Amino acid sequence: MAQIRLDKFISERTEYTRSQIKELAAKGRILVDGTAVKRSDTKIDSGAASVTVCGQEIRQQRFSYVLLNKPQGYVCSTDDKDGETVLKLIPPELRKKGMFPAGRLDKDSMGELLLTDDGELAHRMLSPKHHISKIYIVQLFREFENNYINKFSEGITLADGETCLPARVRQSEISNKLAFVELYEGKYHQVKRMFAAVGNHVELLMRVSLGNLVLPEKLAIGESMEILPNDVENLFKEQDFDLFFAKYSAFYSANLIKYIR
Ligand code: URA
Repeated sequence: MAQIRLDKFISERTEYTRSQIKELAAKGRILVDGTAVKRSDTKIDSGAASVTVCGQEIRQQRFSYVLLNKPQGYVCSTDDKDGETVLKLIPPELRKKGMFPAGRLDKDSMGELLLTDDGELAHRMLSPKHHISKIYIVQLFREFENNYINKFSEGITLADGETCLPARVRQSEISNKLAFVELYEGKYHQVKRMFAAVGNHVELLMRVSLGNLVLPEKLAIGESMEILPNDVENLFKEQDFDLFFAKYSAFYSANLIKYIR
């Protein structure tokens, strides 16, 4: 049974400051398991206690995880100096103190983005120990060429001489200007630079899977939804590119076409 001070428990999960919590407790506005607790330094069981502040139940779960289907025009940052941030798209009831985008998509890219206040998770995601696959669908300027398959699997050399890890690429069945790519790394503008290296150009890009966590089909562009820690663990599970392709390529190809201008 992990014991934690009541004010620490509440301040880690809400925007209340410790002094506000002290005041609210003194006024009898904080209940633990249905009973008013007047001192905010009281120790409670962090795993089992039911805590309400001003009638609102505080969530047991320490961290929050939100999946966003990012639209174009927003930056993956917490700082709005380069434009409106993806945080603006998260409704207040899902937006938590300290939340940040765990990973990056370019301002003109769309698709799956995880936002969380769990720094440890973000660290795990970036660690080279965990090879999290990322699948993107792209719209190309020129037709897809079959020689891309070998070139990507051998490891593309980018224009600046940097080499990429082997990656997989497949043309969509519904258009020879749409392709799916699977990468295990995340260099700056990597997908765009990989297609540039084979003489093509990415016009539109959408991320559709992170690890085994597929962008839910029901999540429209600009929408977000909370996911549970169990779902988050799917990030660290293997994705099978061919299985993904068989299951989702028709849906995500048709979906991307809607955004082609
Ligand atoms: N690769 C890119 O070029 N852009 C992105 O947003 C993501 C991957």
